[in-house]
Amino acid sequence: MSQSIESVLTETRSFPPPPDFAKDARVGSFIDYESLYDRAAREPETFWAEIASELAWATPWKKVLEGKLPDGSNPEAPAPKWFVGGKLNASVSCLDRHAASWRKNKAAIIFEGEPGDTRVLTYGQLHREVCKAANALTELGVREGDFVAIYMPMIPEAAVAMLACARIGAPHTVVFGGFSAEALRDRILDAKAKIVITADGGWRRGQIVPLKENVDKAVIGTAVSTVLVVKRCDTPYTWHDRDVWWHEVVTPASPKHVAKPHDSEHTLFTLYTSGTTGKPKGILHTTGGYLTVAAYTSKLVFDLRDDDVFWCTADIGWVTGHSYVVYGPLANGATVVMYEGAPNQPGPDRFWQIIEKWGVTVFYTAPTAIRAFMRWGDEWPAKHDLSSLRLLGSVGEPINPEAWMWYRLQIGGDRCPIVDTWWQTETGGIMISPLPGATPTKPGSATRPLPGIAADIVKKDGTSCGPNDGGFLVVRKPWPSMLRTIAGDHERFVKTYFGEVANCYFAGDGARKDADGYFWIMGRVDDVINVAGHRLSTMEVESALVSHPKVAEAAVVGRPDELKGQAIVAFVTPRMGFVADDALARELREHVVKEIGALARPEEVRFAEALPKTRSGKIMRRLLREVASGSAARGDTTTLEDQGVLERLAQSFAQDE
Ligand code: WTA
Repeated sequence: MSQSIESVLTETRSFPPPPDFAKDARVGSFIDYESLYDRAAREPETFWAEIASELAWATPWKKVLEGKLPDGSNPEAPAPKWFVGGKLNASVSCLDRHAASWRKNKAAIIFEGEPGDTRVLTYGQLHREVCKAANALTELGVREGDFVAIYMPMIPEAAVAMLACARIGAPHTVVFGGFSAEALRDRILDAKAKIVITADGGWRRGQIVPLKENVDKAVIGTAVSTVLVVKRCDTPYTWHDRDVWWHEVVTPASPKHVAKPHDSEHTLFTLYTSGTTGKPKGILHTTGGYLTVAAYTSKLVFDLRDDDVFWCTADIGWVTGHSYVVYGPLANGATVVMYEGAPNQPGPDRFWQIIEKWGVTVFYTAPTAIRAFMRWGDEWPAKHDLSSLRLLGSVGEPINPEAWMWYRLQIGGDRCPIVDTWWQTETGGIMISPLPGATPTKPGSATRPLPGIAADIVKKDGTSCGPNDGGFLVVRKPWPSMLRTIAGDHERFVKTYFGEVANCYFAGDGARKDADGYFWIMGRVDDVINVAGHRLSTMEVESALVSHPKVAEAAVVGRPDELKGQAIVAFVTPRMGFVADDALARELREHVVKEIGALARPEEVRFAEALPKTRSGKIMRRLLREVASGSAARGDTTTLEDQGVLERLAQSFAQDE
């Protein structure tokens, strides 16, 4: 992995934190950051204990940390435990303590629906809604430890549902509303959920997403006995015995609910994410450790204070929505904006209009969105007064320096610091990021690890790489919000994250550190692709394709895409007797949408009579990646079984272009 000329050039451009930002920031200089980092590294338990003590604990912990990173060769090795013996209720830390303070009438959630309807819920109101939902769920038979699937649009009830589950100790599994009925069913089955919370539909680009209809299909053959439905769109629906309206059971329920504290290591949620196999992994997070880091990073990275209006545009179906729409900001008593719909509905300036309307001060979004805004043109943000903004953030994929500069100038008015935050579903919270008042930023770099996070870049044997040597991104020490297991598959957990690099958590990303110790994330080194900030495994798309009766074999790769970061290219060998034509390509693309969701629709389907394989029959994806990105296969092809296959593939590609 060699350094490109552009990155050397951009590296020399550095933006110090603006002095008026630094003046009032929680961490106001690079020296302060470094001393905090060193202190956390020297005494991690004392450091994390101080931070955790900012949550509302009902029973203090006996031990801050128990155990170490699992030994990758022992499939039963347990994950470390945090704040052992302590008890707390996540919803109390996020709500009750604020509702009992001057924040009672402070806005917790400012909701803007796509059609333009709005609702503001204060901490007092949100607390009452969550108590009602907790009572209603209990009434519906949900007990501590039962898994609840949530498949909802971005409406306040989604946050209410999550917090109500947390309140009664029923772990939630939120499934992104863009996933298909099939993908939802897989997750419901894996989580063994008996109840699904959904809505009749949600608004997206002026259309209604038929959530209830998808749930109706998804629950067939599962253990689901109750479907709780919020009426959002007044759209036609089919009603079943298992269905219950939210407004009939939650709205009339009692707003009083005494929350029972849960063990620090009690499961707060599982969230499915893609790995290197066809089967998504249920990443499991626990209460005390997860909430500690969600709250800590919200406070430090976004420098949150009481007069901020914080808008993280992520859907609650992703981990970013869990940590930075719900748990992190609410634990800090902050005001969050929640928007239901598309960024270009009704026009390409919807986001800028929302920022102006509500006076958003901190804005957190994904590079894919930023690149789309760039393409739509500077005139859209220019129409709005964005002077309320004081801080910008980016997450989900590497941000190219050009998009970074555009974000800084056109949205941030050359005034707001940008925090490029690296983290994962597995890490629970932000791991590598500038502190906006302390860290000079370089466009395209996530800069330094946060205090408490022992991130490094290493070779396969675990030794650190030298400056600018590409290697694997790892974490060397436990941190409170690390995943505890993959639900139902502990062995896969140990192997995936601890079996690759000795004594380290292996993130799956490649990266390098420059001479200043700044991290530059280069992207996944496994078969995970990142399409428009959505994580997908090539195997997942392949298994969807081969489930189609006309497909004999399929291989899926990512190729660089200017807008989405990566685009999906599928190489398909049809079964004998089926014609490889445009109609089949269309059919297969729609088949993937049905199996997974629109986010996985292949950009291109390429037919091939055979796929390049090693002598042992393994598909050589590296070669396909090169073919898909239009470059000739340059690498080593000596292990290729049939040299002719590659030439024929490259030729068919060239002719079609
Ligand atoms: C990628 C999203 C570069 C990375 C929070 C990681 C990033 C995966 C960044 C996790 C960033 C996330 N710069 N790459 N700032 N943030 N990634 O689980 O490849 O949906 O492994 O979590 O996104 O995606 P996930």
